[in-house]
Amino acid sequence: MPSPRRRLAGAANIAQVPALPAPKQRRTGLTRLSRYLVGRRLQVALLSLVGICSAAAPVTALLIVQDAINNGMQAHDKARLTRDVVIYLVINALAWILQTTLVRGLARVGQDVVLGLREDLFDHLTTLSLRYFSQQKAGWIIARLTSDVDALSDVLSQGLTTLVVNTLTLLAGIVGLFVLDWRLGAVALVILPPTLVLTRWFQVRSHAAFLRVRETISSMTAQIAESVSGMAVIQAYNRESAFLGEFDASNDANRRTNTHAQWLNSLFFPGIEFLGIVAMTSVLWVGGHMIGSGSLAIGTLVSAVFMLNLVFQPLQELSDLYGQVQSAGAAMEKITTVLDTQPEITDAPGAHRAERIEGDLHIDHVTFAYGREPVLHAIDIHIPAGGCLALVGESGGGKSTTAKLVGRFYDPDDGAIRVDGHDLRELELRSYRRQLGVVLQDPFLFAGSISDNIRFAHPDATDEMVADVAQAVGVDRIARRFEAGLGHTVREGGAGLSAGERQLISIARALLADPRILILDEATSNIDRPTEILIERALDRLLHGRTSIIIAHRLATVRRADEILVIEHGRIAQRGRFDDLLEADGPFRRLAMELKGSDVQLQGVSDADLQASPVTGSRASNSARVASSEPE
Ligand SMILES: Nc1ncnc2c1ncn2[C@@H]1O[C@H](COP(=O)(O)OP(=O)(O)O)[C@@H](O)[C@H]1O
Ligand SMILES: [Mg+2]
Repeated sequence: MPSPRRRLAGAANIAQVPALPAPKQRRTGLTRLSRYLVGRRLQVALLSLVGICSAAAPVTALLIVQDAINNGMQAHDKARLTRDVVIYLVINALAWILQTTLVRGLARVGQDVVLGLREDLFDHLTTLSLRYFSQQKAGWIIARLTSDVDALSDVLSQGLTTLVVNTLTLLAGIVGLFVLDWRLGAVALVILPPTLVLTRWFQVRSHAAFLRVRETISSMTAQIAESVSGMAVIQAYNRESAFLGEFDASNDANRRTNTHAQWLNSLFFPGIEFLGIVAMTSVLWVGGHMIGSGSLAIGTLVSAVFMLNLVFQPLQELSDLYGQVQSAGAAMEKITTVLDTQPEITDAPGAHRAERIEGDLHIDHVTFAYGREPVLHAIDIHIPAGGCLALVGESGGGKSTTAKLVGRFYDPDDGAIRVDGHDLRELELRSYRRQLGVVLQDPFLFAGSISDNIRFAHPDATDEMVADVAQAVGVDRIARRFEAGLGHTVREGGAGLSAGERQLISIARALLADPRILILDEATSNIDRPTEILIERALDRLLHGRTSIIIAHRLATVRRADEILVIEHGRIAQRGRFDDLLEADGPFRRLAMELKGSDVQLQGVSDADLQASPVTGSRASNSARVASSEPE
């Protein structure tokens, strides 16, 4: 008796599973997956039909075998025997074609679901807010898109076929058994209760086990991601062995959870196999007695034994697949937690497009907390269109937070940020951000050429436009060092370029975006003198005609501002113009003095000295020095 199903599973090297009722949590996952089938109803319906036919084929073939033995061989009817053999061959040939169609069709459907899911997951990630990314480990997120989607992909591409083919065959086998002889069918069913009990036990245990396996996998991915991005610091402080120790612990936890899952398998699968043997011997024993008493034909018993095979082989394969399905179910649960995370910053219903904004910016009594404790207390700042405001102050005062609120990476808890009189929450986020430029202390560059990185802000920009801004801010001077010029390839994060060079590129990027409002967060902090001159010049160009907020440590950067605010502990401690602030006895002067040491010296310093000195305390400048001396 050929067993197409066995071969099928073997060829695809599939581990696996039973048509078990899915636990509740997984139902949401299934509903979600079924969404990707919308628009493919016809294909799914056709495949179901093909599946049913291909499952019915071997059962029908066995009914023919019964007829061949009982009415052909035993009745010495050669014509009937020949006819049965031919029909048997034809049915199996048809089954072959049907299965090929089914395997291909299901694989295609499965891959389409995976594609849709991966797309949605990535798409959803891009809508999530900064708070999410600052709270969630990067590696954890990466694990969702890689190992979890892979686990699903395995089940959907190969497992789906095993699942559908074997479930249908199993059902057809049971029906076939009862069609042959209902008494034999009833005998075979004796193993049903223990099978259900064993399966339920396994289901509960292995679900928990596979969830733990996925957790250990994602914690390893998170550790790897963190170590890779922090390798320079790890090596600089000789912490390799500590990190290795932590990794070993996770690795070991993964081994333990996996071993436990396999231990469950080792009890379950042989158990199912043994129950199959029990059913087989029961049928043979009872059937034998029935033949003895003349109430059963031999052909029927032979066919029934083969038919039992059609029931138990799929059951085994389904059990095998079960591990994979559990794993995929656990993966889907994790994926669902990402997909269910609501983006914090979204367009309000009825939000209107921000057409070209003038840039009048009002931070209107804004109070904000990341957690419970507010880090900004009723901050009130007004910058007229085209104005330039500088924020200075000790580290941790709330300067960057203010900038993030202006970029609408967070919404204020109280008060509002108004642009041209409109609350930011009433504007379409995309249309607002399009007119916003941000340059950060440690600008991120993507893997690609220098010009790709500049073009990032404005993908449609021509080469000429890119070259123009590059020249305007002095990136062309850096580029000249490289053979490929602006085409020089930068590695991810900008490794291979100095902090100042990266900074200039990010300024060129902001200039190309031609924003109406510009935020520079410590963009000039850890930069050497020659680059600083370049950057100061670039800033002149960049700031011209735009509303800008500059957060800076350097007096040279700050002095160009129309107004300077000293922020301390989330409050405005002092405000005024550069010269007035330096005159007045207040926090601003203290910030500058702390560095210079004495009042007298401060009065004696030249413009050039001021330009090079950070305005914040020595703490900040020390940390900046440490940061810039890290190997890249
Ligand atoms: N993502 C965050 N989650 C929680 N607290 C934060 C976060 N970012 C900053 N803070 C806290 O908010 C306060 C202000 O930080 P920040 O605005 O970055 O200061 P500054 O830029 O003036 O140095 C600090 O006490 C800091 O610890
Ligand atoms: Mg900051």
